[in-house]
Amino acid sequence: MTALFESLSLRDVTVRNRIWLAPMCQYSVFAADGLPTSWHLAHLGARATGGFGLVMAEATAVVPEGRISPHDTGLWSDAHVDAWRPITGFLREYGATSAIQLAHAGRKASTSSPFAPERGGLLPAAGPGWDVVGPSPIAFDGLARPHELTVEEISAVVRSFADAAVRADHAGFDVVELHAAHGYLLHEFLSPLSNVRTDAYGGSLENRMRIVLETAAAVREAWPAGKPLFVRLSATDWVEGGWDVDGTVALSARLRELGVDLIDVSSGGSVPNAVIPVGPGYQVPFARSVRDEAKVATGAVGLITEPRQAEAILAAGDADAVLLGRVALREPGWPQRAAAELGVPREAAPYPPQYQRGAWPSG
Ligand code: FNR
Repeated sequence: MTALFESLSLRDVTVRNRIWLAPMCQYSVFAADGLPTSWHLAHLGARATGGFGLVMAEATAVVPEGRISPHDTGLWSDAHVDAWRPITGFLREYGATSAIQLAHAGRKASTSSPFAPERGGLLPAAGPGWDVVGPSPIAFDGLARPHELTVEEISAVVRSFADAAVRADHAGFDVVELHAAHGYLLHEFLSPLSNVRTDAYGGSLENRMRIVLETAAAVREAWPAGKPLFVRLSATDWVEGGWDVDGTVALSARLRELGVDLIDVSSGGSVPNAVIPVGPGYQVPFARSVRDEAKVATGAVGLITEPRQAEAILAAGDADAVLLGRVALREPGWPQRAAAELGVPREAAPYPPQYQRGAWPSG
């Protein structure tokens, strides 16, 4: 048996294999109401029928002002619950574990979709954009200067994550992931590059971690005990004086103590000028450090594109699962190719019955 096709049990959920779809914004909400569309059903559904073990929906805003763009999905009302439910139902029907990444874009909110002529540029606050918030009034590269959240407003953000987790449960999701990476709100608090507060939410490592720990605790409380909770972290800002691997390991251990089941280990996103040595599997060593030192399960992500490469990551004990991003956009049936390349018997390969005839070329 291969490591990639071994199931993974976390709490009451058993994921059929270790090949997971990374969360990826689709910018395919066309009415700016945060409701997922037929695109989301087709996109996520195709990866379920393609054999992914866990299929994670994109960064989904817990409040309207937490969207990156007006085209992001949301989960701030019961109408969102109803819109997500058929999607989780489809994923379950075809054997995939459904996950949703809950997010607040903080100072990187209120931008246009990358498909728009402005290509992700700032949208005016007077409309169609909105006022953005952050730990400190420091703008991200050409975007708006954020309003510095008050302590009461921070509590409201924490509550909105917990409320969204309850809705995620009602919508049928099996797993919730908190987005605390890529320079969005929770990561903005972690990084000294975006957080210069002098109150209980800034300064020391403990203070910078506070909102993430409070959010994880509140979500763990609100989210069913039998369902796993993940957190995505940027392991490093790749900038001197920024958020770093030591902080990531310390935070991951604290998150484990709060009942977080897996850390999804990414990097970067705090500042535009970071020099990142991008290459195959370049973030895998961070997943290894977190797994070894914080003693928590990890997901590895970032330029993992080949079945043998992915298998080697798991076999070496660098991570418990791999998350695939862009290669999964190109190839929704990547797990089926991996099964063929790794010699998994076709009966054990993740084909839905409709695609069984595709399992052998001569058929
Ligand atoms: C992303 N990524 C991303 N990350 C995240 O945490 N939440 C998100 O919603 C998105 N959105 C998104 C959209 C698109 C189109 C891409 C290509 C990427 C990052 C993604 O999850 C992954 O970490 C990176 O793409 C690196 O993995 P790959 O693509 O090298 O496998």
